[in-house]
Amino acid sequence: MRIIFIIGSLRRNSFNRALAENAAAIIGERAEISFLEYQDIPYMNQDIEYPAPESIRRIREEIMSADGIWIFSPEYNFNIPGVLKNLLDWLSRPLVKGDAERVSAVTGIPVTLSGAGGRSGASNARKRLSELSIFMKMKHMDGPETSISLSPEEFASDTLSLSEEEKKELRDQAERFLSFIDA
Ligand SMILES: Cc1cc2nc3c(=O)[nH]c(=O)nc-3n(C[C@H](O)[C@H](O)[C@H](O)COP(=O)(O)O)c2cc1C
Repeated sequence: MRIIFIIGSLRRNSFNRALAENAAAIIGERAEISFLEYQDIPYMNQDIEYPAPESIRRIREEIMSADGIWIFSPEYNFNIPGVLKNLLDWLSRPLVKGDAERVSAVTGIPVTLSGAGGRSGASNARKRLSELSIFMKMKHMDGPETSISLSPEEFASDTLSLSEEEKKELRDQAERFLSFIDA
């Protein structure tokens, strides 16, 4: 089983990346995990959409060879970070220009969402990501989702420190997602 992790932050020391690393450790040998590198993709611009730029082709191929996607994202101004929205805009588009069925690289792929952020635990971004993934015809897992409200100490040290309850949330989500993909 192959699962792609998508991090909604490009920050080197991202809390969301650290959360994803914890999830990868929980999954262990049960799936092959890869982190999608997408810093090099261009802004969506319909002038360059077809044929797709090389970086978009690479990302689509990587995603189409996977069995599921797990998105870990902060929220920026109560919303989906722009870099992640740009990626999802590319992924939302049909592989073949003018395809009436609008089949994209993510059509039907199982997806689950987690987030680390301020007091909201990035829940506003996740709400919008849920709506978007359904709109994009992904197979959205209806919970459980891990929501991390970072403490002032975590922000000050720039280090993620999961409580036992948060670790359990992440374990529950990982277990559920593995069976969701298998179903
Ligand atoms: C442009 C911007 C907007 C932000 N807006 C929010 C917000 O609406 N809600 C929130 O909880 N945190 C907000 N934050 C703080 C982020 O949650 C925090 O920087 C977090 O560490 C980002 O995740 P990362 O560590 O994975 O990069 C914002 C940060 C930035 C840079």
